[in-house]
Amino acid sequence: MKKKLFDKFTELFGSADGARFYFSPGRVNLIGEHTDYNGGHVFPCALTIGTYGAARRRNDRLIHFYSMNLDRFGVVEVSLDNLSFNSKYNWANYPLGVVWAFAEKGYTLDCGFDMVIWGNIPNGSGLSSSASLEVLTGVILTDLFDISDLSMTDLALIGQYSENNFNGCNCGIMDQFAVAMGKKDNAIFLDTSTLKFEYAPIELEDAKIIITNSKVKHSLVDSAYNDRRQECADALAALQKDLDIESLGELSPEEFEANKGLITDPVQLKRAKHAVYENQRTIDAVASLRAGDIARFGELMNQSHISLRDDYAVSCEEIDILVDLAWKIPGVIGSRITGGGFGGCTVSIVKSNSVDTFIESIGKAYKEKVGHEAEFYTVQIGDGAARLDD
Ligand code: GLA
Repeated sequence: MKKKLFDKFTELFGSADGARFYFSPGRVNLIGEHTDYNGGHVFPCALTIGTYGAARRRNDRLIHFYSMNLDRFGVVEVSLDNLSFNSKYNWANYPLGVVWAFAEKGYTLDCGFDMVIWGNIPNGSGLSSSASLEVLTGVILTDLFDISDLSMTDLALIGQYSENNFNGCNCGIMDQFAVAMGKKDNAIFLDTSTLKFEYAPIELEDAKIIITNSKVKHSLVDSAYNDRRQECADALAALQKDLDIESLGELSPEEFEANKGLITDPVQLKRAKHAVYENQRTIDAVASLRAGDIARFGELMNQSHISLRDDYAVSCEEIDILVDLAWKIPGVIGSRITGGGFGGCTVSIVKSNSVDTFIESIGKAYKEKVGHEAEFYTVQIGDGAARLDD
């Protein structure tokens, strides 16, 4: 990979002397969906697929971005003196947003840089290619410009800030946090209200985690996402008339049931119900994993899907087909939509000796029903973003 990137770097910028090599993973969330902007818990892990980058400082005030996945955009050139969003930059608005966010936080760069990337996260799959790229850029900037007072958590927050304020998606912190803080063979049990977290080893003796990519991404994903956020904020405001709470994540299901009458809008009521119960499911799921009760973990995954489908309304026909098919296969411990929704991927825990059947039978039935192939990946949990060479 390094050679491939450095050869391209040389072709574009004359040589790769002094260029450095970086990697930032994608992520999959095991449970705790749409809880991160509601002050709840999430349970994601970093993947071994992700985004590789080669980067080097320049002597002038230009920044050059090049993606080997999207050659058609060529070298995107931006001046440090004009760090503004431009739709013609396309994908490069993500790394540019991070440069902008660094400047907003007081970290102005004294010269430009060249950056070439290549990634193997399927685009639009809901496995966080944008967060991967944001945190990659953060790691590159701190390394190239000797910025030593930003932690990996800070880089996650800066990535989220750039996505919220530069790229217009009001996402929570889960993706950037998982990408920045990932740890091999561990998932991250994160309380998004405090950013306190614990690693939980994922040691499934005779089961595998399988991601199934529906290969659909419905349009308006960002606007529907922002709508959900608003609906939760409105539900919270209604509850705050009587309750002294700052987020939906502070409520137990019992407290929610006792006070839900304050929410008069039926849609907001369903959204809030999901946020509260999903938070509890996430806490319970991690406890059951720690107790070795993987069957219970799987049941909670299934309940999560039903809630995301019916109350949160972020699933879609293709994803429901995948999940319904999975639930019928003996040896499937749990299966649900993962990520923001409206397409993308499911995540399933499958007994090792059922994995072949899972892939074959779902692959065949999905093709028949939907008309195109699904893709399957066996999850390997990797480390967070870092520079790879010295
Ligand atoms: C997207 C967002 C995350 C999170 C998930 C849903 O991935 O970027 O912050 O809200 O959706 O859990």
